Amino acid sequence: MSTSEETALAGRTVASTQSEMTEIILPNDTNILGNLLGGRLMHFIDLTGAMAAFRHSRTYVVTAAMDHIDFIQPVRLGDLVTLKSSVNRAFTTSMEVGVKVWAENTQTGNQLHVASAYLVFVAVDKEGHRLRVPQLILETPNEIRRHADALLRREHREAESARRSKARHAATAEEAALAALE
Ligand SMILES: CC(C)(COP(=O)(O)OP(=O)(O)OC[C@H]1O[C@@H](n2cnc3c(N)ncnc32)[C@H](O)[C@@H]1OP(=O)(O)O)[C@@H](O)C(=O)NCCC(=O)NCCS
Repeated sequence: MSTSEETALAGRTVASTQSEMTEIILPNDTNILGNLLGGRLMHFIDLTGAMAAFRHSRTYVVTAAMDHIDFIQPVRLGDLVTLKSSVNRAFTTSMEVGVKVWAENTQTGNQLHVASAYLVFVAVDKEGHRLRVPQLILETPNEIRRHADALLRREHREAESARRSKARHAATAEEAALAALE
């Protein structure tokens, strides 16, 4: 491993991963009521999340998971949407990133928190092989709290994934048993 690779894997601060994107909501982004489409917002969330993951890993990344999202408030045609992201926790080859979204009414300047999401990105090379990611250096009490919470969410994701996999296997076994009776 080169010296620069060793230095990179030694750690990067949460602050160095912080990313931000602002978009103006145009007619193409909205439904017939003039509200931002949920899928479009998820696209913005994925992009802003990936920016933080790129800044932490300095590799290519793929989205492995996007957690449950609550759309707390509608975003209206003409609003400015600002998304902010940072890495909450670096695991071995994956990183959990938090994204928070605000909408700003351009006429009043009012800003509302409209959505939050957690995503997991996996670092890969050009061939898609997974790569180790640097450690995350925590500097503030909030960063320490988010880091601890990210481990709980990972445990929850793993338990959910195991439960879904068990349900799929049970369904396949049941189909096979039914087919054998036909
Ligand atoms: C994400 C992906 C690389 C994981 O590959 P895999 O061979 O299943 O890898 P593993 O199960 O060994 O897990 C590798 C890492 O990914 C994490 N991971 C895998 N699936 C995950 C999921 N559904 N949710 C959260 N993390 C996940 C694992 O926890 C592990 O993290 P760690 O190394 O930090 O401990 C692979 O499933 C993939 O390429 N998926 C498609 C990604 C994609 O196309 N995204 C949309 C467009 S970018």
